[in-house]
Amino acid sequence: MKCRKCGEKAVINMRQHKLALCGDHFLEWIPQQTQRSIEKYRMFGPQDRILVAVSGGKDSLALWDVLQRLGYQADGLYIGLGIDGGSRYSAESQRLSEKFAQERGLKLIVVDVAQSEGAGIPQGAALTRRGQGKPCSLCGLTKRHIMNRVARQGGYDVLATGHNLDDEAAVLFGNTLNWAVGYLARQGPVLEERHGLARKVKPFHRLYERETAAYALLRGIEYIYDECPFAEGATSITYKDYLNQMEAQRPGLKLSFYLSFLRAKEEGLLFAGSQQPQPSLHACESCCQPTSAPDRCAYCRTWGQIRERMATSAVPPAE
Ligand code: AMP
Ligand code: FES
Ligand code: ZN
Ligand code: ZN
Repeated sequence: MKCRKCGEKAVINMRQHKLALCGDHFLEWIPQQTQRSIEKYRMFGPQDRILVAVSGGKDSLALWDVLQRLGYQADGLYIGLGIDGGSRYSAESQRLSEKFAQERGLKLIVVDVAQSEGAGIPQGAALTRRGQGKPCSLCGLTKRHIMNRVARQGGYDVLATGHNLDDEAAVLFGNTLNWAVGYLARQGPVLEERHGLARKVKPFHRLYERETAAYALLRGIEYIYDECPFAEGATSITYKDYLNQMEAQRPGLKLSFYLSFLRAKEEGLLFAGSQQPQPSLHACESCCQPTSAPDRCAYCRTWGQIRERMATSAVPPAE
């Protein structure tokens, strides 16, 4: 297989685009595609300050690399979740995120949940209803809260995450199977700022996971290969598997599934006249972040409960 641009040996064949490219041309193609998405959705401009949420994985580190190469001002945010135990998942992903930032002279903000809240995600989850079974729900709540807080307090114009097409198509698949209309209405590459919630963008939403992985490998970015140990058996992974099986039969299916959804939404063909009323938001009385709850936000309530339970379980039982 030869590179479409120069005729050299291709390193990747993207059947959905009927495009094979050599290493050099692929490394040019990814930033061009990303820039196209940024412009199409007016995600941000060269004057904007961007906060990239980096997990130490291939997508978010590749995104940070691409934004920097495109000349954007992008700082990183790493959230230490305390998922270690035997896996050292958090320790290793933090090390790789810090190494990436250091080698390129970039600013990385690190927030450690165990330090700020007194427990990491697995320990916290074991003490709350949200954690029954798996800690993923507490983890998601905590990440969203911290990302928003750091973006707002740091005066960033926008928060960028490394979600790729496989992630977005799997979420769309799940939302469609459940006809989760509220989630479908909000799903997209840009979530506008509202009532103290930072603007959120996904510049890699058109890129397949294998493309971001190939980019990270060809660029020599060191990233954590392992998934979070709690991801095993997650529904989103099952949906990704189904979509991959269909993609193998029909190359381009994932891309057209997601892009056709966005197009229908942009053309007003979905949700017309049925826009769900947005819940009104006000400041949490404890942390001042926006919430629809009457007093404290879900983050403050949940972590408050965890701290109370930690305090009581630390008291020796009465004799
Ligand atoms: P995930 O929810 O793990 O699929 O991650 C989706 C995106 O969220 C990643 O591409 C990152 O941009 C961001 N993210 C995930 N985990 C972290 C973390 N520990 N710290 C900062 N950002 C994260
Ligand atoms: Fe949060 Fe796995 S539970 S990354
Ligand atoms: Zn080439
Ligand atoms: Zn709060």
